[in-house]
Amino acid sequence: MILVGFQFIIADMGFLFANILIVDSSSAFVSETRQVLQAAGYVVRHIEKGREVLAQVEDAPPDLILLATELVDMDGYDVVRQLKRTRELPFVPIIMMGAQERHADITAALNAGADEFLRKSVSNVELLVRVRAMLRLKQTTDELADLNATLEEKVVERTRELEQAHAHLRHTEKLSALGNLAASVAHDINNPLTGILSSLYLMRQDLPADSALVEDVDLIEQQVHIISKLVRQLQNFARPPRLERHPVMLSDIVNSVVTFMRKDLQKNKIEILCECTPDLPLVMAVPDQMGEIFLNLVINARDAMPDGGTLRVYTGTADHNNVYVKIADTGMGISEEIQHHIFEPFFTTKGDKGTGLGLAICYRIVQEHGGNIEVESVVGQGTKFIVQLPAMRE
Ligand SMILES: Nc1ncnc2c1ncn2[C@@H]1O[C@H](COP(=O)(O)OP(=O)(O)OP(=O)(O)O)[C@@H](O)[C@H]1O
Ligand SMILES: [Mg+2]
Repeated sequence: MILVGFQFIIADMGFLFANILIVDSSSAFVSETRQVLQAAGYVVRHIEKGREVLAQVEDAPPDLILLATELVDMDGYDVVRQLKRTRELPFVPIIMMGAQERHADITAALNAGADEFLRKSVSNVELLVRVRAMLRLKQTTDELADLNATLEEKVVERTRELEQAHAHLRHTEKLSALGNLAASVAHDINNPLTGILSSLYLMRQDLPADSALVEDVDLIEQQVHIISKLVRQLQNFARPPRLERHPVMLSDIVNSVVTFMRKDLQKNKIEILCECTPDLPLVMAVPDQMGEIFLNLVINARDAMPDGGTLRVYTGTADHNNVYVKIADTGMGISEEIQHHIFEPFFTTKGDKGTGLGLAICYRIVQEHGGNIEVESVVGQGTKFIVQLPAMRE
């Protein structure tokens, strides 16, 4: 409760220290109004000239403006028009104060955009009541604006989540359809392959050791073995074996992949920076499959840096629940359009040198382990693959 003259005004705690700007050139009115407002717990600033109002509001927006209809340098109504026209300003309620309460003055004030009109001789109590009503108006308007802004953000965020879930579903459906196709093709190829291999065996037995055909038979056999290896890979991809999971330390697996690839990378003039945290939380996973993921990613990184570069491998915890492995290269990068396809089986830009199964296999393994794999890339600068897997609970 605040004592004002002989009146008790119940101060609204939410508005205590609200900032009020008085724009007027009559010093008697300003000093009296300032006293009343300060006694009620408000912080009061004062300026004389209408031309200074815009700059003041831009620099430190007040919560309310008390504006005289007549100022030393300009008309108060023009000040209101100017303020209301400036779109980027926050909402500040304006009470116009005139010497008299003439119908024409009130209409002019409201038409210019003011929120309230009072005569200067208004009682202290009425002034405080109107001030509080205007501050409440500001508070509600601000809350609505905040709500509006977060609502838009929430809609955008939710739409993005839905789009991601949709893309994920489409990809999973595609994988499963391709998997079924691959399994049946692999099965149909396997039978004739077995037939070819046994015929080759019989041919070799009938051929004299010095026959010129022996070399051809060797060559055919080699090619058949390449095909049967590919068929095995396809079958593995389509019907992956269910393997046992163990607690694994991803840093150890990444380190052993890097050690295995070290010579090959050095031969390709690739510098290796390995920052693998030794005290990473464990992950429940099939160790060989984890190795397969990181080997695929390191080989891809090597292929992306034909003229050498830097391979950076690091591990860490994303939050308390996830462990990440990041594999970054300074290679050619991947255009946005191609990024949409890289996890699809058989998608390759390497012609005969790639099967296009590497990343599809990584994707499937990571998914089966409840994690996710993402790519960030800039053409001409490099690519980073991020694998995240759920950490084991203690
Ligand atoms: N680090 C990388 N930098 C640039 N492009 C990459 C990178 N990793 C993958 N890609 C692109 O993604 C495609 C698919 O990769 P994926 O590993 O699935 O197949 P591949 O490497 O072409 O063949 P495979 O792995 O079967 O030998 C690649 O052909 C290449 O275009
Ligand atoms: Mg690959």
